[in-house]
Order: sequence, then C-alpha cells, then structure tokens
Amino acid sequence: MPKLTGIKNINVAVFISGTGSNFINLIEHSFKKKSKFKIKLVISNNPKAKGLKYAKKYKIKKKIINYKNLKNSEKDILSELDKTNIQIICLAGFMKILTVNFIKRFKGKIINIHPSLLPKYKGLNTHERVLDNNENYSGCTVHYVNSKLDAGKIILQKKVKIFKNDSSEKLSKRILKHEHLLYPRALKKIISSL
Ligand code: GRF
Repeated sequence: MPKLTGIKNINVAVFISGTGSNFINLIEHSFKKKSKFKIKLVISNNPKAKGLKYAKKYKIKKKIINYKNLKNSEKDILSELDKTNIQIICLAGFMKILTVNFIKRFKGKIINIHPSLLPKYKGLNTHERVLDNNENYSGCTVHYVNSKLDAGKIILQKKVKIFKNDSSEKLSKRILKHEHLLYPRALKKIISSL
C-alpha cells in the first residue's frame, strides 16, 4: 500500500459495474482547478458496463476483471492498483463484494456510495423497500467500506424527501442527483483529513 504524501494529488480508482454516472461525475470533479485528486483507473467486473465509455473518452486506464475465481480476481485488481499507485478506491455501483483480505490491504482507503440513509436499507432494491415501508425520507450515504455490507463508518449523508407519487424510478433519479453532489464532497473531506 503506497504511502500518502503531504502533496494532495491523490490517485483514485473507481470500481463500477453499470451506468457509471457517479464515475463520470467524479471525473468531471477531478478536472476542477482546486481538485486534490485524479481518476487514474477504472475497474469493472462487467465488460458491458456502460460507464466504461468514459474511460475511453478521458483516456483513463481500465481493467476488466472476469471474477471467475475470486482470489485471482482480487490479486489482479491489487496488482493494477499497485502499478497505478492508487491511494483511494471509490466504489460506485460495483456489484461485487470485496473480501476481508482485500479491504485490509486498503484499510480506511475504500469508500462507497449507497442510495439510502444508512444504517437503514443496506443491500439491494433500496428504493422499492423504502417505498413499500411508506417512509417519508430516504437519501444517500458515503461511507468507509469494512467487512460488513454497507456498514462502515459514515462520511457524509444527505436526506431526501419522498413524495406521495414517487415510484422507485423517480426516487432513484432524484437521489442520484444528490449522490453526484455528495460523493465528490465526501472524497474531498477524506482527502483533506489524510
Ligand atoms: C448508485 O445509486 C449508487 O448509490 C449505488 O449504485 C448506483 C450506481 O449508479 N451503489 P451509477 O452507475 O453511478 O450511475
């Protein structure tokens, strides 16, 4: 695991499996003048992930991992992370669970975004479950990744009102907009604490 230096130009890897709207959003933030990070690598378990097109567009190194064998897959990921000198990992819609050993290697340096007000509604189908329970609020959370699913220490959270006529699609779209504000802020926050 590379040492973090005083110079705040942190190399970040983003792990995705799908659309990649958080990925492109982080890329755009990294281009801002005051940005303290660069997106150096994208990892995907899904060769068809739509978000991979942004890697091509912005010439970001990409690595597809087939996940046929978990141990080898994570070994391959770690080798890419080392080669690219990655200091922070941002999970953004990555549908694979990282092993305890992997997390240990990057202890305190892996963060994730989840579309609920954690600790409520961990796991999948969040918006459907929130609506089924007639909640008044949902939201999104950026948290550190530990060995338990969606259970690491919370970095930032945003509460979002649920409307009477909300469907899971509507709610998910509205929350996603807040995710795009929250994730860069959370990344900035953890970088400034390094
Ligand atoms: C987001 O809702 C994120 O919170 C969840 O997966 C979704 C990924 O969306 N973990 P995208 O691929 O970044 O558009």
